[in-house]
Amino acid sequence: MKGLILSGGSGTRLRPITHTRAKQLVPVANRPVLFYAIDAMALAGITDIGIVISPVTGSEIQAAVGNGSSFGVSISWITQDKPKGIAHCLLISRDFLDDDPFVLYLGDNILQQGLQGFVKRFEASRAGYPTGWRENRPTGQQIQQRPAARILFTTVSDPRLFGVAEFDDQGRLVGLVEKPADPPSSLALVGVYLFDRSIHSAVASVRPSKRGELEITDAIEWLIDNGYRVDHEILKGWWIDTGKKDPLLECNRLVLDTIADDVQGKVDTTSRITGRVALHADAELVDSVIEGPAVVGAGTRIVDSHIRPYVSVAEHCEITSSSVGNSVIMAGTKIVDTKHIVDSLIGRHAHIGCGVRNAGAEAGDTNLVVRLMIGDQCQVELGSS
Ligand code: TTP
Repeated sequence: MKGLILSGGSGTRLRPITHTRAKQLVPVANRPVLFYAIDAMALAGITDIGIVISPVTGSEIQAAVGNGSSFGVSISWITQDKPKGIAHCLLISRDFLDDDPFVLYLGDNILQQGLQGFVKRFEASRAGYPTGWRENRPTGQQIQQRPAARILFTTVSDPRLFGVAEFDDQGRLVGLVEKPADPPSSLALVGVYLFDRSIHSAVASVRPSKRGELEITDAIEWLIDNGYRVDHEILKGWWIDTGKKDPLLECNRLVLDTIADDVQGKVDTTSRITGRVALHADAELVDSVIEGPAVVGAGTRIVDSHIRPYVSVAEHCEITSSSVGNSVIMAGTKIVDTKHIVDSLIGRHAHIGCGVRNAGAEAGDTNLVVRLMIGDQCQVELGSS
């Protein structure tokens, strides 16, 4: 079994962060999102992995992942000239995939459930059936007995935003509808799929959709329509597509909920840590409070500040006389004299500080909050009260 991770795309929904960096390298609990996908594959014993990259962000992804040896896998790089759709990624990965079954994994998705059980059930279901076809009575359609695909669904509150499953009255999967106005179910496709080589015929047969992309939902629909067996299962645990700010922050919270307490850095006597906190050995806490869960990366200094729950601060940041909650702060960023930053995604080497006094604000007004999504190297001056 091979693995294919998609790490190209445009990332428009995560701008401005994606103007200067691949969205798959945005950190969740101080690790790039993409690394969770590679870990999941390695844990499931999949060590031959292709990663689709774009000419724009490919080199930084290659630099971050290296040759895969730190994950115990080997990586083949496949460049997609333009983001022409998920099914297009399969078309250009044909040589790498050869005729092997494979896991397709969207590189900005994170799943709580590992891949082991999913892969095992696909392999077991394929081993249990012959490769032949049988007639489906009463339709007369030829049906393949060995599953060609296994897909994952999860229940979502607004299925109109997803690829949604359609079942017949006997509960059999009969189709998929992309972002339906009138959803046939509330089960949405999760960004992890298992295929055998039959998917290549499907991909070669589908035409670009209205948005000009080769859609994976159309390719799976083609399999179903042409009698290939497509099995499915319902995801256990959470799944997040981190391609937008709020889901990314939610993912950061879910992952921080699983971290171990690991305070290695310097903590002075006037500082206090509560809850689970991972403080890197080269990080320093001076006259500050951290309420976990939180992670703080190497070379970061936190002085006279309050870090509230669910914050990830990457390497070489400085946070001084400030307070931050529920946020992801990327490497090299400085935050000075800024209270009440919440729900924020802050790029690398950004500088946030206080400018002029806010004319209308009362001194000590604690109801003010600041929510930010700012890109690399931005400078923000906020009014102070
Ligand atoms: P999406 O999030 O569906 O698309 P996108 O990255 O273009 O983002 P946006 O809609 O915000 O502009 O992509 C899911 C994953 O698949 C993501 O890791 C990018 C990758 N991808 C490719 O590698 N090539 C493609 O042609 C597409 C559409 C996505």
